[in-house]
Amino acid sequence: RPRVLSGIQPTSGSFHLGNYLGAVRQWVALQDSHDAYYMVVDLHAITVEQDPATLRANTRASVAQLLGMGLDPERCTLFVQSHVPEHAQLGWVMNCMAGFGEAARMTQFKDKSAKQGSDRTTVGLFTYPILQVADILLYQADQVPVGEDQRQHVELTRDLAERFNHRYGPQPTFTVPSPYILKETAKVFDLQDPTAKMSKSASSAKGLVNLLDEPRVSAKKFRSAVTDTGTVVSFDEKEKPGVSNLLGIYSAISGRSVAELVEHFEGKMYGALKTELADAFSEWVAPIQERTQAYLDDPAALDEVLARGAEKARSVASETLATVYDRIGFLAAK
Ligand code: TYM
Repeated sequence: RPRVLSGIQPTSGSFHLGNYLGAVRQWVALQDSHDAYYMVVDLHAITVEQDPATLRANTRASVAQLLGMGLDPERCTLFVQSHVPEHAQLGWVMNCMAGFGEAARMTQFKDKSAKQGSDRTTVGLFTYPILQVADILLYQADQVPVGEDQRQHVELTRDLAERFNHRYGPQPTFTVPSPYILKETAKVFDLQDPTAKMSKSASSAKGLVNLLDEPRVSAKKFRSAVTDTGTVVSFDEKEKPGVSNLLGIYSAISGRSVAELVEHFEGKMYGALKTELADAFSEWVAPIQERTQAYLDDPAALDEVLARGAEKARSVASETLATVYDRIGFLAAK
């Protein structure tokens, strides 16, 4: 079976709809067809300042939500990045493969650091994409299921894998991975600013739909979503970004095609779309919230899942790292 790997940051108490539709939904779907590795990336989280107790709680909450959304530890390997020391170890090696200019061209870094100012930007944030490269290469992943905003990081992974393979050949050390990005849900937009990506840092609270929001809170967000001044519900990302975003979300959570939904809303106004979507969302998210809560209420079960996940992950990661250390000429420890 081909292998997939992906990660998500534990930087808030709740994931949002963009995380689910852009990534985790695909993680769930790929569990049976692929050898799947998924992780909560706490090493990445500390590239910006984190309160220790909050980080610990958010990491637990992240794992509980991933299980709540449908990851099944019997069908995938679920772990916390810091439990597998090989990430930091290969991260260093890959830092030494990447060019400074190459790293400086990463758009997420440029955006984030521009907002923070250079003295508040950590060196860790600069090398963040290279740690992500190590994450992916350690597992010899064939595909990386992510949202559109991660495409450049997967491209960097391909470049560095090829560079390493070439420099330390002739046998290839790393599988060169491809991004796995579904067009329909590659980018979920902010409900208040439907030209901007939904994101916990950029979106206003009203534009960000959290999976753990109470039903009346999320319903209100959907009902006050920004649309245009027209009345006809149709899919047109340029002219009607707000309506199109709502249709995309509705289609993804209901399994009904956009065309079918457009037909369904013929003769109805935007208000009908918002209200129906709010209801559909509450209904869809309720079992996810229940399962998440059950895992939060059973920390021992969660620890058990993570212990097994880390062990499995380490068995793969350590093998890759040993090959890398050998190929680059490190003296074997006896
Ligand atoms: P993170 O934690 O920012 O986001 C997790 C996943 O959610 C996707 N996503 C979205 N998709 C569509 N629309 C949106 N509005 C939206 N917002 C977020 C992201 O694309 C991502 O797939 N660097 C990564 C974490 C990471 C990783 C890895 C991923 C670390 N190591 C190795 C893949 C492989 C990140 O910050 O994701």
